[in-house]
Amino acid sequence: MGVPSSFQAYDPHPIVVRRAVDAWMEDVDGNRYIDYDMGFGALFAGHVNPVVRRAIEEQLDNGTLFVTPCESNADVAELLAARYGLPMWRFTNSGTEATMDAIRVARGVTGRDKIVKVEGGYHGHHDEVMISMKPPTDKAGPAHAPVAVPSTAGITGAVLGDTIVVPYNDADALERALVGNDVAAFIVEPVMENIGICLPRPGYLEAVRRITREHGTLLIFDEVKTGITAGWSGATGALGIQPDLVCLAKSIGGGLPVGAFGGTAECMDQITTGRVLHLGTYNGNPLVMAAAKVVLAEVCTPSVTQETIARNGRLVEACDVVIQDAGLPAHTVQFGAKGCVTWAAEPIRNYRDYKATDFDLAFAQWIHGINRGILLPPGLDEQWLISVAHSDDDAMKYASVFAEFVDELLG
Ligand SMILES: Cc1ncc(COP(=O)(O)O)c(C=O)c1O
Repeated sequence: MGVPSSFQAYDPHPIVVRRAVDAWMEDVDGNRYIDYDMGFGALFAGHVNPVVRRAIEEQLDNGTLFVTPCESNADVAELLAARYGLPMWRFTNSGTEATMDAIRVARGVTGRDKIVKVEGGYHGHHDEVMISMKPPTDKAGPAHAPVAVPSTAGITGAVLGDTIVVPYNDADALERALVGNDVAAFIVEPVMENIGICLPRPGYLEAVRRITREHGTLLIFDEVKTGITAGWSGATGALGIQPDLVCLAKSIGGGLPVGAFGGTAECMDQITTGRVLHLGTYNGNPLVMAAAKVVLAEVCTPSVTQETIARNGRLVEACDVVIQDAGLPAHTVQFGAKGCVTWAAEPIRNYRDYKATDFDLAFAQWIHGINRGILLPPGLDEQWLISVAHSDDDAMKYASVFAEFVDELLG
């Protein structure tokens, strides 16, 4: 396909980029874009943030890989513990590894094999979660009781049998899945960010927390996408629900490949005692730790995070005005520094609602934007991110190009 990850292959052709700084990118033909994708939200600190750059350069003078601990391992773990209220952390190289390891820890704690995930949820590319990522609805069973559909060849029947799929925002369906007391973990994005942005209904996550506790199932929040873009203490802090394990990646690394998972002492002691093995040559290497440390301590401070979220709020409001003035069957959704336009009159509550939105209009808006210097991934899956490097003008450019699109659409 000519791309290093199949996510990067899209019609009519991927944009090949030469350079990226702050909030913009330049392609190999010399076209400039304001980047609203920001590495699927990984670049909350902006492209080549000067503080991150300095930290990386200083670390380069002292080595990039020790395979023995470095001082910043503890520093970054403490910074994450302060934000997420979970005492113990381990580092990985990606979000995929973070969710894979968190699931293994949950199985270690509970001695149970099964996991539950949400239909339409993405948690990385390991076998257990590459199930019902975006299943064709004609193969996925009824909306209230979806069947597990492998999302790729190569998933064994045994793995498929251990992954139960439920609709998001449906606490009764979760309860039905957990009733046999044989499920190790419910892994869920507290706010779904792979179908645009799908918010929890009031009371849903509270019910999830209660039901998982009642059935001895651990609750894993996949905050790989929400992470520190949702607020200083992630979706966990913003929504006030404490999971047993949290998975992070993307935004904590300032553009370098890092992941982390943290948990209660009961969970993480599985690793301390050696019952669960957690391994990896590059885990917590000093180069990515140098970047993560300054992202967490110096760049994405509480005040900068708040200001950036407020800037995003102004963009969302401007798009709302365009939608209302034109009477469009569309709406905006904001969560922290992220936002999206969803091409449906009513808010979406789950994957099936998302499937019923207008993909043609979403594609048209995307291609209109890309031809005018607005870079987002195609379709409705993703959302925009306003990073700390986006100025007010950068942020508002999206709204003005969106207004042009709506004019052309109505014209
Ligand atoms: C919610 C969520 N979890 C996990 C992952 C996997 O992260 P990575 O691509 O770093 O493996 C992603 C990636 O997009 C994600 O969106």
